[in-house]
Amino acid sequence: MSESFDVQRHVLGPTLTYGLWSWSHYVFRPALMLKSLGLYRPNVLGEPPPPRKLPGGGPELSKRLDAPQLLAQTPGHYDSVVEFDHCSDDYEQAVKPFSQPVFDELLGMLLPHLVPDARILDPSCGPGIEALALARLVPEGEVVAADLSRGMVETSWRNARQAGITNMAFVQADVGDPPAIFEGYFDAISCCLAFHHYPDGAAAVRAWRRVLKPGGMAFVADPGPKWFNDMSHPWAKLADPGFVQHRTGAEFQALFRQAGFADVYWVEALPGIGITVAST
Ligand SMILES: C[S@@+](CC[C@H](N)C(=O)[O-])C[C@H]1O[C@@H](n2cnc3c(N)ncnc32)[C@H](O)[C@@H]1O
Repeated sequence: MSESFDVQRHVLGPTLTYGLWSWSHYVFRPALMLKSLGLYRPNVLGEPPPPRKLPGGGPELSKRLDAPQLLAQTPGHYDSVVEFDHCSDDYEQAVKPFSQPVFDELLGMLLPHLVPDARILDPSCGPGIEALALARLVPEGEVVAADLSRGMVETSWRNARQAGITNMAFVQADVGDPPAIFEGYFDAISCCLAFHHYPDGAAAVRAWRRVLKPGGMAFVADPGPKWFNDMSHPWAKLADPGFVQHRTGAEFQALFRQAGFADVYWVEALPGIGITVAST
């Protein structure tokens, strides 16, 4: 049976994808070229973190949890991720040209701190592209790929199995309401292009403060400077399913400080995209 016409799936989604690809091609690429020549001068807030190493801990959850851990009951605000369930299999292909350069920047900031036995949480893993890449970088550690969307958790689990990656666990969870087993467990959080979907950003950051160990760090990439937020807001509202709000670098800094993070650095790593690095 042919799929019935759906404005989000057949018009708005592809339009948004086209806009993201164009931004990546016409804005990110020249910026990356300037960066390679040392000519990119990003906006920054705060001091970059000193190059200290994360504590590390080794694998535990990935040894205990074979299958994806799914919520017994559907949370009240699940409608915000239903569209991610629908597109979980095609998502990587649609978004990678935009999300890859953003994740590469995040990774560039995480790598100096990484140790081989680090425990990393990706709290909104989507289909798991980034979580799998991180798992390969911590062969003596592990990555927990979490997402509120059941479809995304199952897709990332399948992708890891196909890739033969075993140092990962998969958990369906709301970012603001993590399971008790996460408390004080992680060395690092890596969150890429998801924060603008969170219904309660402050609750998410408070949860991250609780799940990180002393000495842990959070790395969060999301749209950031005000000019980009203002420009993209109408599109995000119209075409990005489950969009809640964009934040400026100063707003990210305030959220992390209020949640008890000690040092918070924000940099416009690529035009329109900020990365927040917060240390416990
Ligand atoms: C734009 S996608 C980004 C996925 C992935 N990080 C990437 O860059 O490809 C946003 C993800 O956030 C997830 N998400 C939205 N609200 C969430 C919440 N409250 N808790 C956890 N994940 C959530 C969505 O299900 C979706 O997979």
